Amino acid sequence: MASTSPTPPWNVDQLPRADGRVFLITGGNAGIGYFVAEQLSATGATVVLGSRNPVKAETAMASIRARVPGARVRAVRLDLADLSSLEAAVESLNIEHLDAVVHNAGVALDNPPREETSDGHELMFGTNHLGHFALTRWLMPLLSAAPAARVVTMGSFAAKSERLDLDDLQSRKDYRPKRTYGRSKLAQMYFGVELDRRLRSAGSTVASVVVHPGGALDSLTPSRPPVHVRTTAARLGAAPAALLVQGKHAGAWPAVRAVLDPAVRGGQLWGPRHFGLRGEPRREPLWNHLTDPTLAAQLWDTSCDLTGTDLSAFAGRIGHI
Ligand SMILES: NC(=O)c1ccc[n+]([C@@H]2O[C@H](COP(=O)([O-])OP(=O)(O)OC[C@H]3O[C@@H](n4cnc5c(N)ncnc54)[C@H](OP(=O)(O)O)[C@@H]3O)[C@@H](O)[C@H]2O)c1
Repeated sequence: MASTSPTPPWNVDQLPRADGRVFLITGGNAGIGYFVAEQLSATGATVVLGSRNPVKAETAMASIRARVPGARVRAVRLDLADLSSLEAAVESLNIEHLDAVVHNAGVALDNPPREETSDGHELMFGTNHLGHFALTRWLMPLLSAAPAARVVTMGSFAAKSERLDLDDLQSRKDYRPKRTYGRSKLAQMYFGVELDRRLRSAGSTVASVVVHPGGALDSLTPSRPPVHVRTTAARLGAAPAALLVQGKHAGAWPAVRAVLDPAVRGGQLWGPRHFGLRGEPRREPLWNHLTDPTLAAQLWDTSCDLTGTDLSAFAGRIGHI
């Protein structure tokens, strides 16, 4: 009788090779995105950092090259807060196909006043959700040209307790920075799930996966000078927090797994093992409110209107709209 060999457990320190594949990481110059880029560079893949700051991108690339001999890393200028720049940013990638994009870049404001992008959208909703929504449209031909590409959207645990207000997506009536941030991440997660639903209905080879990093603190993150420098005082001061949360190197693990693990499927949610806050990446049940297809479809339509882009040509329309 033929025996099926069990799938080996995922090892964050022993990633499968990905030679010949091309991955784009938005906000790859800092924080979690930097570590996603560093870890993926070690697989032999070509890794492109999407960054709004060329100096920071150069610094990040130098750090990756110093740690990963032979790393194939490069950068493109990408500002998600400027929707009109995204088509040209994708053209400047100058590639034939894209095997995965990690929608990682994000902005989180702690205090008022409410700010807007150059397009007049609330800054967090406009950058985190609308920027990635529009970017996906321009990337779709390159993703479709790969054999089995993935769109990996970085959500947040902060979105678990939030609900969307479709009448005030831009927080014009009621602006509370933490809530607006959480809702922008929730919008991204709805998008990730809805995108996969539409890709499946269109028979696409592209899959969309949602991940979140748990709680990821700079003070628990190993130094990568000059990209990130952790002082001894910061490290010692953060030791108790390590019981609950983790560093940004570990916050990168769910996204890296979602890019590389053949067992990961579209429409799934992946996050850290321990209370969704820290630890090895594992699959989580989709949060209840994320399974609402009507709300997701309404958000999709509104996002098409607000960005002036129509993803439907690539990702298909489905029954409920
Ligand atoms: N850290 C956490 O505990 C945590 C928890 C849940 C979810 N997340 C999510 O994880 C992702 C990364 O978080 P992080 O903690 O690593 O944040 P971070 O250290 O502040 O890094 C954010 C990255 O996004 C980039 N970015 C911001 N606005 C941009 C724009 N308009 N265009 C292009 N890039 C832009 C930043 O570029 P600059 O360097 O130029 O500013 C930077 O590279 C975010 O999506 C965040 O919402 C983080």
